[in-house]
Amino acid sequence: APAMAADIELAKKSTLNEIMARGELRVGFDAGYLPFEMTDKNGNYVGFDIDIAKEMARAMGVKFVPVNTDFDGMIPALLSDKFDIIISGMTVTQERNLKINFADPYIVVGQTVLLSKKLEGKVKSWKDLNSPEYTVVSRLGTTGEEAAKRMLPKAKFKSFDKEADGALEVVNGRADAWVYDMPFNVVFMAEQGKDKVVHLDKPFTYEPLGFGIKKGDPDFLNFLNNFMRQIKNDGRYDRIYDKWMRS
Ligand code: ARG
Repeated sequence: APAMAADIELAKKSTLNEIMARGELRVGFDAGYLPFEMTDKNGNYVGFDIDIAKEMARAMGVKFVPVNTDFDGMIPALLSDKFDIIISGMTVTQERNLKINFADPYIVVGQTVLLSKKLEGKVKSWKDLNSPEYTVVSRLGTTGEEAAKRMLPKAKFKSFDKEADGALEVVNGRADAWVYDMPFNVVFMAEQGKDKVVHLDKPFTYEPLGFGIKKGDPDFLNFLNNFMRQIKNDGRYDRIYDKWMRS
């Protein structure tokens, strides 16, 4: 029957089959996004996403191959086959979802604000930053940038190519506020922010993060959703979560 032939064609085309044939899972991410993906002092990639990616490769019985890629070019890189999957703390937005598929969310985050210490008490909520007297910064191509521009249209805005550069602008007093995913802000605050920045830690956006894959690949999507359900319930996810998210 024609339907069956089509099913077989589709199965053959699945990225899953390519991964198995290659013996490698190539993962796209952008190191610098604490605590999801970072480069340690020996040059190894470490973090929440990296551990999940390694667990995924282990479940497939293949080798984990990291492909560090600029976040702003992550979707084009996936579409031009630089790697098999995006595991990069990527928020499932409707705009991105028109271009790629996302597996069911593996964690939910939201935007929070790292505020210059000199504005402590004066700026009590992210909403107070919506004024031309303030300079707000975030990272290029992220939902932090989108949220800042959309929700703080009156503030001055500047984006940076790397998370650390943007957040340090606030530490160094060159910007008033850094808007970014809450887990990053928690870790950055603990590492560099004490005495210099204030964390307005009530998230003001809803952001499910999901693995990104090419469209039209139900086999791969099915594997990913079942993999995530399994590790979320057998202790593996909790172990990884506790390692990176409880600081
Ligand atoms: N969740 C945000 C977004 O999707 C930021 C993700 C940044 N990830 C990274 N690996 N630098 O836009």
